[in-house]
Amino acid sequence: MAGGGVRLKKSPVSSLQSGSHQSSVISQNASGSGIWHLVPGTGAYPFLMDRHAWNERYRERGFHGHTGANRFFVEIASALAPGAAYDLAGGEGHNAVWLAEHGWRVTVVDWSEVALETGRLLAAERVVEVDFEEADLLEWRPVELRDLVAMVYLQIPPRERQAAWCTAVDALAPGGTLAIIGHDSSNLTEGCGGPQSPDVLYTADEVVEVIGDRVEILRAGLVSRPVVLDDGTTAIAMDNVVVGRLR
Ligand SMILES: C[S@@+](CC[C@H](N)C(=O)[O-])C[C@H]1O[C@@H](n2cnc3c(N)ncnc32)[C@H](O)[C@@H]1O
Repeated sequence: MAGGGVRLKKSPVSSLQSGSHQSSVISQNASGSGIWHLVPGTGAYPFLMDRHAWNERYRERGFHGHTGANRFFVEIASALAPGAAYDLAGGEGHNAVWLAEHGWRVTVVDWSEVALETGRLLAAERVVEVDFEEADLLEWRPVELRDLVAMVYLQIPPRERQAAWCTAVDALAPGGTLAIIGHDSSNLTEGCGGPQSPDVLYTADEVVEVIGDRVEILRAGLVSRPVVLDDGTTAIAMDNVVVGRLR
């Protein structure tokens, strides 16, 4: 199920803020893969800005096969004619594999070589071709312009994420579609799971404020995503979705 089938442990959502130190766990998942964990005693999601820590998280998890593309991403991409795409901060390539299965030429850019290696296995398992490029998005520049640029759950502090959004726009071909999906700030109080540092959460309005003068905004707002808890009950996570088209 796209973006579904997500299992969370029913530990209470931590009230941790950035820089506080407790280890509650858990949560969530971006595209069905359960990557958000607090590291005990090291602060809230310290790995968000640390490539090696991301590698560790992915290594611990290992290869689970295809857990499905993000449901909102699928909704957006399904409305487009296949072309060439970038999936920036694409991790293990779940969304990219979906694209490749639907006729797209796609490159995943991520700084975690462990995630990319898993992505290669995943693409091989699904018998599709996906390019994987290891790079820090804060330094990366597109080598070509593409019809679709996706950025799904890149949760980093404001200055860095805003730079990354601008890079995503830079990678768009004329008329190309931008899809930015993230954990919304309101998830802290209204939703479950996800990163608990307010710093790395944002709203659709922030995205529009940063890139709205460069792309025509087709959609921007809050969406809710059902997640299945360990005990089989369902909870709701709050995400945001911004879709734009290069003017
Ligand atoms: C929550 S995961 C989302 C992965 C994927 N988009 C998905 O939805 O399954 C965030 C990803 O951002 C990547 N990332 C974080 N900061 C990055 C940076 N500066 N450059 C490249 N990748 C980065 C991490 O390695 C991780 O794979």
